[in-house]
Amino acid sequence: IPVPPFDYVVFGGNGDLAERKLLPALYHRDRDGQIPEEARIIGASRTAFSDDDYRGFAREALTKHVKPEDLQDVTVSRFLERLHYQQVDALSEAGWNELKALLEESGPERIRAFYMAVAPSLFGDFASKVSEFGLADGRTRVVVEKPVGRDLDSARALNAQIAEYFAEDQVFRIDHYLGKETVQNLMALRFANALYEPIWNANHIDHVQITVAESVGLEGRAGYYDRAGALRDMVQNHIVQLMCLVALEPPSAFDADALRDEKLKVLRALKRIDASNVETATVRGQYKSGASNGGAVKSYLDDLGEPESDTETFVAIKAEIGNWRWAGVPFYLRTGKRLSERMSEIVVTFRPVPHNIFADVAGAIQPNQLVLRLQPDEGMKQWLMIKDPGPGGMRLRHIPLDMTFEQSFRVRNPDAYERLLMDVIRGNQTLFMRRDEVEAAWEWIDPILKGWEEKRHKPQGYTSGTWGPSASIALIERDGRTWHEPD
Ligand code: BG6
Repeated sequence: IPVPPFDYVVFGGNGDLAERKLLPALYHRDRDGQIPEEARIIGASRTAFSDDDYRGFAREALTKHVKPEDLQDVTVSRFLERLHYQQVDALSEAGWNELKALLEESGPERIRAFYMAVAPSLFGDFASKVSEFGLADGRTRVVVEKPVGRDLDSARALNAQIAEYFAEDQVFRIDHYLGKETVQNLMALRFANALYEPIWNANHIDHVQITVAESVGLEGRAGYYDRAGALRDMVQNHIVQLMCLVALEPPSAFDADALRDEKLKVLRALKRIDASNVETATVRGQYKSGASNGGAVKSYLDDLGEPESDTETFVAIKAEIGNWRWAGVPFYLRTGKRLSERMSEIVVTFRPVPHNIFADVAGAIQPNQLVLRLQPDEGMKQWLMIKDPGPGGMRLRHIPLDMTFEQSFRVRNPDAYERLLMDVIRGNQTLFMRRDEVEAAWEWIDPILKGWEEKRHKPQGYTSGTWGPSASIALIERDGRTWHEPD
């Protein structure tokens, strides 16, 4: 779908997120012909840069983060031409009149988006400056990066601050997991097919697993990460969002509020985990030295450069949703850094057959499993039992109906940010988090954090390059189940 002309202002325009994600994503959209001729991208930050300096920065970002076969001189130059830069400071008036003049060049109709790719402590200051200088009118949108707060109170305060300057339909709280292809495909799978929905409930589903495993460690974000930890960094947003999409009731339409209303109901139905059950329902881990990505790696504490820290780099949770659809169906969630590989997937395990007529036949019947793979090799596999082909008599085999997207469709898999950055311009909030949703997610997370504190529930060490602490295996095996092994 074409997008209208826009001015995208990126606060923190020469920061890490802009370099790794935003500029490459906008470049790809431009290369695919989706960005209108007049559209501009305006980097803004405290650094004293000229337009040309910024173009130089962007050129390097593309060289580093876009595949060489996608970089053509013509498309790169066209993209760089769109870039402008304005030095501004969130805490002073410097540069704001110039930014206003630059934006006014585009006339009164032009869609305007402000992307907050800055520390959350500055969101409020930037929002207030945008408003003070008369830049926040009806055509304006603001994109807010995570983390939205570090607990319920701070999230509420931040949301209230943003709401002073922007209406909710102008605020785009980004969770880039919602822009991933497989995640959107989950919606298509559930609601564009008649096959799954009748069995998508506790009568037919035994349990659900959501794993977001990373092989990387701290990646130079020690300051932020040590204050956050895996629960805040990954579970409160990405994993909770995935769980909501698996669990939600069919919305009446694929539109922002219909979908977000249903996600909110799931969040409110999550059973509370607090000091009374935090030790049995959750596992915390912290990576020790080991081997990862083919080389020796240091421990979390060595990466951090501190003798001590209780921050978790791994978390596993047995979550339960208290409603008719999901009663008694555990959702096992886990995420961690420095695990054996980078692999994210949602696994839905169906109940076993009620009666086995093949008891005397070779090959045990295994439950049907639907595996939605987010990364790498995005795709879906529906595991089924079949008769092993050939004349050897009746012999059962577990095989997948395999739909790996890149192979099946032979298209480049777009980065999540590509879709989301364009949705902001289209004014489509379906894949963004609403204020009440973010707060409801914190309402579930807060008692876990408090429970850990109260029970002095420290992270257990795990060797880098493994699947996390042994307690994570125990968490699921206690229930007679096992973590899905990626194939
Ligand atoms: C970010 C987290 O939101 O998501 C990072 O802050 C994490 O710690 C990243 O590495 C993972 O994103 P992706 O798209 O690489 O799975």
